[in-house]
Amino acid sequence: MESISPREFGRLPDGSSVRIFSLENRNGMKAAILDYGGIVQSLTAPDRLGGYADITLGFDSLQPYLRDSPYFGALIGRYANRIAGGAYMLEGKSYCAAANDGRNSLHGGPRGFDKALWRVERAEVAAEGPELVLRHLSPDGDQGHPGTLDVAATYTLTNADVMRIEFRATTDEPTVVNLTGHSYFNLRGRGDILGHVLQLNASCFTPVDSSFIPTGAIRAVAGTPFDLRSPTVIGAKLVESDEQLVNGRGYDHNWVMDDARRSLSHQATLSEPETGRVLEVWSTEAGLQFYSGNFLDGTLRGKNGVVYPFRGGLALEPQNFPDAPNHSNFPSAELKPGETYRHIIEYRFSADQKSRR
Ligand code: GLA
Repeated sequence: MESISPREFGRLPDGSSVRIFSLENRNGMKAAILDYGGIVQSLTAPDRLGGYADITLGFDSLQPYLRDSPYFGALIGRYANRIAGGAYMLEGKSYCAAANDGRNSLHGGPRGFDKALWRVERAEVAAEGPELVLRHLSPDGDQGHPGTLDVAATYTLTNADVMRIEFRATTDEPTVVNLTGHSYFNLRGRGDILGHVLQLNASCFTPVDSSFIPTGAIRAVAGTPFDLRSPTVIGAKLVESDEQLVNGRGYDHNWVMDDARRSLSHQATLSEPETGRVLEVWSTEAGLQFYSGNFLDGTLRGKNGVVYPFRGGLALEPQNFPDAPNHSNFPSAELKPGETYRHIIEYRFSADQKSRR
């Protein structure tokens, strides 16, 4: 039965209550979303026998989200990914975004949108399925960024087993915006992701230096481990010797999507042979960060007491290119007053019957 219902998940140090919203579609697919950080705490997906199981990494309680979370399931902003040294120029003025990754600003800085308590604007069963609308007003100067940014994130769990996140943002001064979702997927529901098969619709990627900052080059993937244009077992490529795999400690790079029309386009297909689970990622953005969970080191204890191993989950983050404010050859990340930033992400789930063993 389609439904959406809230309950208290925990309390922040200042006493405010954090709620978790449980969404269920007509097929029995479920999502749980926090108003803290817009975090997707769990998401179930069907396997080839029709069994729905949780395929995301996360925690059972609020405390570890406040303390230890490597952005599990979080909504990322104002600027997803890195800004070199936190510094950028916009309309002739220089800005310094707060650093939290060496000297770089990562995922919005030390108190990014993943650490904000969002206002629940709407929670209802809508035409396509249960829907949650979260709203956040980021003040002028927040984490060093100019302009008051008014952000809405609409989460819809459709009856076609699609989890859609639609972002909208407006500003009262020129600023930079790059919003994404940071779910860690493990379609097998346990172990590592090395046996997962990934295909990306990208002929180029943006190489990085050893601090994960793009060099500015847009490099062809042909002949490199970054050529994932046909379905590829992730673990088979990660063992190749390649300077970029060393710099990223594995895959932690932005791919340049072939379809640059900025309409909703197919970016990636992830599948898992044992369960038959398939995830297609669609987005209106020009880039996709694929992160193979290289910083997971077996120290985090997640849902149901499970310890997440090295590469126990992977993130597929549709977004603008990292450090775009510092690269004139990358798509512009600027949002001006009067414009509306809009980004749609769809995670489309299904099961592959063909590969039944
Ligand atoms: C992103 C980054 C990674 C890492 C993770 C969080 O995917 O690109 O380098 O910071 O987030 O651990």
